[in-house]
Amino acid sequence: MKNKPNLAVVGATGLVGGTFLKVLEERNFPYERLYLMASAKSAGSKIVFRGNEYLVEELTEHSFDKPVDIALFSAGGGTSEKFSPIAAKNGAVVVDNSSAWRMDANVPLVVPEVNPGEIAKHKGIIANPNCSTIQAMVALKPLYDRYGIKRVVYSTYQSVSGTGLKGIRDLEEGLKGNDLNIAYPHPIAGNCLPHIDVFLDNGYTKEEMKMINETHKILGDDKIAVTATTVRVPVLYSHSESINVELEKPFELEELRALLAAAPGIVVVDDPAKNEYPLARAAAGRDEVFVGRIRRDFSVENGVNLWVVADNIRKGAATNAVQIAEKLLEIL
Ligand SMILES: NC(=O)c1ccc[n+]([C@@H]2O[C@H](COP(=O)([O-])OP(=O)(O)OC[C@H]3O[C@@H](n4cnc5c(N)ncnc54)[C@H](OP(=O)(O)O)[C@@H]3O)[C@@H](O)[C@H]2O)c1
Repeated sequence: MKNKPNLAVVGATGLVGGTFLKVLEERNFPYERLYLMASAKSAGSKIVFRGNEYLVEELTEHSFDKPVDIALFSAGGGTSEKFSPIAAKNGAVVVDNSSAWRMDANVPLVVPEVNPGEIAKHKGIIANPNCSTIQAMVALKPLYDRYGIKRVVYSTYQSVSGTGLKGIRDLEEGLKGNDLNIAYPHPIAGNCLPHIDVFLDNGYTKEEMKMINETHKILGDDKIAVTATTVRVPVLYSHSESINVELEKPFELEELRALLAAAPGIVVVDDPAKNEYPLARAAAGRDEVFVGRIRRDFSVENGVNLWVVADNIRKGAATNAVQIAEKLLEIL
């Protein structure tokens, strides 16, 4: 790949797509040409990027007839299922944010701090993991490498921006006393909904199974016992997670804390005496994963509890995808 690729952003008018553009600009991502794509609904609208005005074009089967090297997709699973293979067939490498390809054995599922080596194995499509999985993986990888992991219990507190623009609207209107319920089956203002994505036959939600399956795939270890309860909370940006981990080997708490503090992409915020711990509002707009409340779980052997917070639109989506694109530039 040439070092100034032609870029396409598919879903450019959405919450994640808009953040793709922001992150590409902030990181000064090199490019030759930029194509912005969305549905027929916003075709013809204009977006300013690095001082230039770009026309949003409708995504069609012919959108990739022109040379595109990297296509950043965030336009939903159905769109990705149909159009990612077309883009890849025409020579683009797709970095896809939807869940369409994540568990496909031929598609690398990548968190650059955790398994960057997978990127080179792509066959035209690379998947960005689920937002709640990405931040958990950044926090768990150093512990996995040093101590091994036997079991993980995830309990999440996920922001409404995880549902895109309509989730934000539901909360903002709900707080004014006007429950729209366009994103959720119940009012989100004043509620915690233990329901993210659809319910499956096993009683879990799809979001919960994504966290379980993607943890196995990214760490390359199906033996880890994983369970999850994912909850939507009335917070605008950033997902918070309680992660209870049973390690394979004994650990010293101070060593474990130092490992986390030294790991790429992590900021440890953990000073309970000063009321300091990771918070959603402080993480919003940042690219790091914040880890705190690091403490021994006395109820099991080798147990530890973590509180992990990250901006779901940035590290949980756009930043992670742009980091993958940066690695693509390095290796291709
Ligand atoms: N929000 C998150 O935290 C998050 C995190 C990780 C991954 N994701 C994934 O990223 C994707 C987008 O999420 P979002 O939050 O940005 O949603 P969003 O704000 O609702 O934006 C959706 C985008 O997709 C476009 N789109 C919809 N249908 C299309 C079609 N048939 N052809 C072309 N473009 C189409 C929309 O274009 P129009 O303006 O024309 O409708 C819009 O640009 C989803 O797959 C989601 O699962 C979201």
